[in-house]
Amino acid sequence: METITSINQAKKITEELRHQGKIIGFVPTMGYLHQGHLSLMEKAGKQSDILFISIFVNPLQFGPSEDFKKYPRDLNRDSELAKGAGVDYLFNPPSGDMYGPGFKTTVSVRDLDQVMCGKYRPGHFNGVCTVVLKLFNIIKPHRAYFGQKDYQQLIITKRMVSDLNLDIEIIAGKTVREEDGLAVSSRNVYLERQQRANAPLLYKSLKEAKKIVEKNRDLELARKMAMQMLKDNEFVEKIDYFDLRDAETLEPALDTGTKNDILIAAAIWMGKTRLIDNIIVRGKD
Ligand code: PAF
Repeated sequence: METITSINQAKKITEELRHQGKIIGFVPTMGYLHQGHLSLMEKAGKQSDILFISIFVNPLQFGPSEDFKKYPRDLNRDSELAKGAGVDYLFNPPSGDMYGPGFKTTVSVRDLDQVMCGKYRPGHFNGVCTVVLKLFNIIKPHRAYFGQKDYQQLIITKRMVSDLNLDIEIIAGKTVREEDGLAVSSRNVYLERQQRANAPLLYKSLKEAKKIVEKNRDLELARKMAMQMLKDNEFVEKIDYFDLRDAETLEPALDTGTKNDILIAAAIWMGKTRLIDNIIVRGKD
């Protein structure tokens, strides 16, 4: 595995690889790799000639009071994991090179970035889209892989790729879970012991809502019951949202007879840790 820190060098390498007709698979990450990242890498590795990943904690997608400074970082550990996962190139640019003096441009995917996490993290998805587009322009992948746990990010990235006519296929990877159901995330390390023990409740509440929707298509009841489960737990400090939405458009899911898949997604706080997760109810034909 080769680690590249220079943007120009990364561009040169990927141009050459493309010239040789190699298929480049790309997994963008902010590091502190976990099983979710590794399963994306495994999928990407199988479908590509060259496996590229990036590790870059992107300052643009963190709000002023968010955890940019304390976000977990361990490049040595990540490099070992990436090597083991068959990564060919690890791109790890310095922040100052990605956002040089005078940097002004941001990419915005309107409306989709105003709901769910976007409502509670203003500017977050502009930051994500800007860095993802920059990484796409540098790495020039044929395919890029994103986890379904960050469902809104996946939908917004797909929209950006389609709207801007990028020749990149966006491929979704399944959410990887701990044995007790908690979705794996780099931020899980922030959880204190008792918070960690109670954290699987988020997934349980999503499963409960899904059960109700599948049984009687009563979306309001599903939301009410799941919210109550969360409110009843003393470790849930705040519920940012618990939403049922059309899984493609992210419009509120109103029609109980809908043919489209329904996304049930939530964000909650346990102490200082924000947890997000989601589940899909398949639409009825
Ligand atoms: O999902 C993430 O880790 C980040 O949002 C991404 C896609 C690497 C952009 O910084």
